[in-house]
Amino acid sequence: MAKDRVYIFDTTLRDGEQVPGCQLNTIEKIEIAKALEDLGVDVIEAGFPISSPGDFNSVVEISKAVTEPVICALTRAVKKDIEVAAESLKFAKRPRIHTGIGTSYYHIYHKLNSNPEEIIKRGAEAVAYAKSFVEDVEFYAEDAGRAENKYLAQVVEAMINAGATVINIPDTTGYTLPDEYGKKIKYLVDHVPNIDKAILSTHCHNDLGMATANTMSGVINGARQVEVTINGIGERAGNTSLEEIAMIMKSRKHLNLTSNINSKKIYKTSRLVSTLMRMPVQPNKAIVGRNAFAHSSGIHQDGVLKRRENYEIINPKSVGINESSILLTARSGRAALKHRLGNLGYTFSKAGLDSIYDEFLKLADSKKEIIDEDLKMLAGASARDIKRNLHLDQLQVVCGKGTVPVATVSLVWEGDCYTATSEGNGPVDAAINAVKSILKKKVRIEEFLIQAITRGSDDMGKVHMQLEHKSVVYYGFSASTDIITASVEAFIDAMSQIV
Ligand code: KIV
Ligand code: ZN
Repeated sequence: MAKDRVYIFDTTLRDGEQVPGCQLNTIEKIEIAKALEDLGVDVIEAGFPISSPGDFNSVVEISKAVTEPVICALTRAVKKDIEVAAESLKFAKRPRIHTGIGTSYYHIYHKLNSNPEEIIKRGAEAVAYAKSFVEDVEFYAEDAGRAENKYLAQVVEAMINAGATVINIPDTTGYTLPDEYGKKIKYLVDHVPNIDKAILSTHCHNDLGMATANTMSGVINGARQVEVTINGIGERAGNTSLEEIAMIMKSRKHLNLTSNINSKKIYKTSRLVSTLMRMPVQPNKAIVGRNAFAHSSGIHQDGVLKRRENYEIINPKSVGINESSILLTARSGRAALKHRLGNLGYTFSKAGLDSIYDEFLKLADSKKEIIDEDLKMLAGASARDIKRNLHLDQLQVVCGKGTVPVATVSLVWEGDCYTATSEGNGPVDAAINAVKSILKKKVRIEEFLIQAITRGSDDMGKVHMQLEHKSVVYYGFSASTDIITASVEAFIDAMSQIV
């Protein structure tokens, strides 16, 4: 059976941009509009042109830059708004004017100082006026979530008669429950005689955290357009997030719904919006949050490594994320450690893994998360113990204020012991000069990083070194409470791969 197409109306650049501190300039808006086009959205709400010259200009420029999606401009049910919106859309290949008025008791009496009949008249006049400029007119019944269904049905019928092709039923205050919102849409489908002449649209806000659930309930009950934003940004607690709706429709196949979204571009678009709007995505945000595909408990990690579907309902690749991440923490098991070491190119026998796991747990107890560099350090230490042909036997340094730093180094190299003494501009430089004088290899230090593993002056220091030799880069690691020793060992670790 053919799937039902749901149109994706993206309002990141209008409702999303209303978020304090998230304002964008025209260039940034064009970049986002192009990304939305690439993502496959059907409609881009590009702005509210009467609100400012900047918004007007953005709608003009987006209309020029984007060809595929419908470009929509928001207005109030006010003639001047509609004229300005029409003017801003003059370059749009497929223009839409989105006009509307409040329909709840609060809006009718306490915002607009009006009455229900007057609202219908003003709304219908606005729709008809918009229709004199563009064919495609959408009407929003503001605060429809709290409007009485019987009255809402009269409003919708009148707006369709006036020429509206899409009817938006906003839950402006994010008040409804999924069941209520779904019933509202169903009521309109069942009671508006001309409903087949328009598409019903959802526009849900997230004040009670139910925007996505309400939107899906609306769609299940007959809405065929959803108004959404990337990362769920928008007024107050935000709007329904595009990525959640797109992935619900893609992963819950029995709903028999489809959209034009190329889900592989979701993550990229999310990052772009977050960066340009300087609005971080919460780590546990569904689909695009940093932790959305991260597994940290040992049981989950083991399960995911056995088969991804054990703990993942979406393949991260399908939203453009390379792979799930297995976070290594003190709660991780051997399976996760082995997997990550394997990714880094290390393999260990069972006994080897047991010993590195003990070290790993000690380190994990003192750090929130073990990163690859820590693992290389742990694996490097273990590997060195097993198979190194070169190691530091003794190190003595003389340094301090008013003295020339001098180091004496003894190395064991393929079973033989070598000793040398050198000066340097500091104790590490002196010791490295001594090692170089023994090994006689021309190398250049490309990176030399000393980090405290935890805190406190008695802590381990971790040293990471990168050497370049004949255009090849070699990595060395070590850790010790003595950072001079750790630095020399990291250097020797890298050198051991060269000699
Ligand atoms: O939330 C809302 O009601 C709106 C309308 C202007 C569509 O954003
Ligand atoms: Zn809104």
